[in-house]
Amino acid sequence: MNKKRVLSGIQATGKLTLGNYLGALNTWVKMQEEYECYYMIADLHTLTVRREAEELRKNTLNLIAMYIAAGLDPENNTIFIQSHIPAHSELSWILGCYTYMGELNRMTQFKDKSAKHADNINSGLFTYPVLMAADILIYNADYVPVGEDQRQHLELTRDIAERFNSIYGETFVIPEGYTKKEGARIMGLQNPEAKMSKSSTNPNDVIFLEDEPEVIMKKFKKAVTDSEGIVKYNPETKPGISNLMEIYSVITGKTKEEIEKEFEGQGYGFFKEAVGKAVVEKLKPVQEKYKELQENPEYLENIYRKGAEQARIIATKTIEDVKRKVGLVI
Ligand code: TYM
Repeated sequence: MNKKRVLSGIQATGKLTLGNYLGALNTWVKMQEEYECYYMIADLHTLTVRREAEELRKNTLNLIAMYIAAGLDPENNTIFIQSHIPAHSELSWILGCYTYMGELNRMTQFKDKSAKHADNINSGLFTYPVLMAADILIYNADYVPVGEDQRQHLELTRDIAERFNSIYGETFVIPEGYTKKEGARIMGLQNPEAKMSKSSTNPNDVIFLEDEPEVIMKKFKKAVTDSEGIVKYNPETKPGISNLMEIYSVITGKTKEEIEKEFEGQGYGFFKEAVGKAVVEKLKPVQEKYKELQENPEYLENIYRKGAEQARIIATKTIEDVKRKVGLVI
């Protein structure tokens, strides 16, 4: 009765967005019953952009609190901090020697991020996907639940794993992305042509999971729509309304057709308010639990220490196997 294994992570870059929640966390919660799950805080990845040290430490702990508040059961999942398992970094170095510059050059996230941080295009930003591949392959994960923006990194992970396996024989499980059709790409509320991102410069573009209900309602009321006045799904011609429908659909479980029917003949104002309310309701228990957990850092520490112990067992096995195969004396 071997359960399939799942690994995923989120960067500890501060407040999470509704995109992170609907594209990743919410799916993780649903997977926890059926799979053996490893959910990590990607703190090393966070260093590719300059951070305040204290801020990063605080964000890391807050993210653990958010994982649990969102519904991950710490008894049933391995929740840990990436940097607590040094084998990730070791494997990343080794895999980097099996990854081509040309492959990394093609990564759209590298191109985007280096345009955004033109004054700090460090090599960590470039080799970021290799560390992500190491995160995944070191646990021999079968599935990796991520939003659409991480799919390219996952394809590269598969290529690296296949390359390694073809040289050294069966070593890594070839992981599959697990991306739900709905919620995989939540767009900004002000600019529905671009994904909702915590680094957006317009605060009304992004719903943060920590936003107060009034703030959430206000942001939805201000969401950009179109002049047609019909709640109908068409991301090409109606990106704003389609994005709101997408959000409403993931939260309520209703199909696009059901939503179109539900709001037939109603104005956008009414629809936007309904979406806002659904989000507020969904986030209410998460926010309450989050606040409660933040008051209890010892409890959180227990979880990530225990998580690291569990994660280390598998990570050590894989890194030793890899070291032996490539010819390192262990
Ligand atoms: P990160 O921290 O940027 O995002 C975390 C997760 O949230 C998803 N996401 C979205 N989904 C839908 N709509 C959006 N607007 C949206 N914005 C973000 C992301 O797809 C992701 O699933 N490199 C990863 C972290 C990482 C990782 C890993 C993930 C490090 N190692 C190993 C999986 C496996 C990242 O930066 O995600």
